Amino acid sequence: MIRQELRLLHEQAGRPTADRLKEQHADRCGHSVSRAALAAVPTGTAGLRWATVEAFIDACASYAESRRRPLPTHMIDMVRWRTGFDRTYGERPPPAGALPRRIGVVPRLADCFQTRTLVSDLTKATADSGTAVLTGTATRLLTGLGGVGKTQLAAHLAERLWQDKHLDLLVWISAASRAAVVTGYAQAAVDIAVAGARGVDTERDAARFHAWLTTTDRRWLIVLDDLTSAADLKGLWPPSRPSGRTIITTRMRGAALTGADRHMIQVGTFTIAEATEYLDSRLSEHPDLADDVAGIAADLSYLPLALSQATAFMIDEEVPCSEYRRR
Ligand SMILES: Nc1ncnc2c1ncn2[C@@H]1O[C@H](COP(=O)(O)OP(=O)(O)OP(=O)(O)O)[C@@H](O)[C@H]1O
Ligand SMILES: [Mg+2]
Repeated sequence: MIRQELRLLHEQAGRPTADRLKEQHADRCGHSVSRAALAAVPTGTAGLRWATVEAFIDACASYAESRRRPLPTHMIDMVRWRTGFDRTYGERPPPAGALPRRIGVVPRLADCFQTRTLVSDLTKATADSGTAVLTGTATRLLTGLGGVGKTQLAAHLAERLWQDKHLDLLVWISAASRAAVVTGYAQAAVDIAVAGARGVDTERDAARFHAWLTTTDRRWLIVLDDLTSAADLKGLWPPSRPSGRTIITTRMRGAALTGADRHMIQVGTFTIAEATEYLDSRLSEHPDLADDVAGIAADLSYLPLALSQATAFMIDEEVPCSEYRRR
């Protein structure tokens, strides 16, 4: 059934040869589907992969466009094709476009997560639909601005907003490069079936998702975790919207990221009270190890990452605080 429809599409597009299909496909998105696989779509009898079908439809559409005889939009509606494909081949992902939806993997909250005072600063900063930029403050340790708990704070708020049903869409993107942001946006566009997003041209799909953020009334949160360069977000900053929230975490100093509607939040090490509370709860099941909590906290400059590593070691090796300090 779907095979016959693909044949019709091929015909309507002007019967592009295998070479032309491959050329159109390569022009638009590199070489992920082979010439042979594309050629076999209208003629073959073996099973089909969705990636091949998608690339074939896109190549036909772009071939027809190049002949100035574009295919009618209903013929290249990917959501309809996907439904037909699933009906034939039995794949059943959640219905495209369904909200609420989570996209990307929110990091797991640390054992004994501490609700720091910064949690309420972050909640307030995003409550009025603004953007919160979490930057690290320098610590005495060589880790510089890392390991202070920026990602954990973002994950905590994201999970809370999601569980309290304040969000229709939660997108978590590890934003260490522009390509990662573009891919994350493009994936979101396809997953929630933004009009026209077909999963073939990532730049265009990313732009479609950005445009959707700008116009939708749905409640969204975008987390861009670990941004390394402000330039990576050129044209991709999530817009300021009444129903939208953005959290950015970065090791960069704030200056390059300031702007209207942006709340800069400096995340430092734990306070003494937070570090003590953290160590007490981490070691609560091993009271014999907790013989010098204050000493360990000070030695490790109250850095969350260092404290979590130290306690993991102490528990695994049954080393008490005092001995750990001597080593
Ligand atoms: N609020 C917290 N409660 C308990 N543990 C925490 C907390 N914040 C951070 N940690 C511990 O510190 C580790 C590092 O935190 P996180 O990954 O959030 O740092 P970061 O500032 O994002 O670092 P980087 O700049 O390297 O991305 C966590 O894996 C966790 O073990
Ligand atoms: Mg981080």
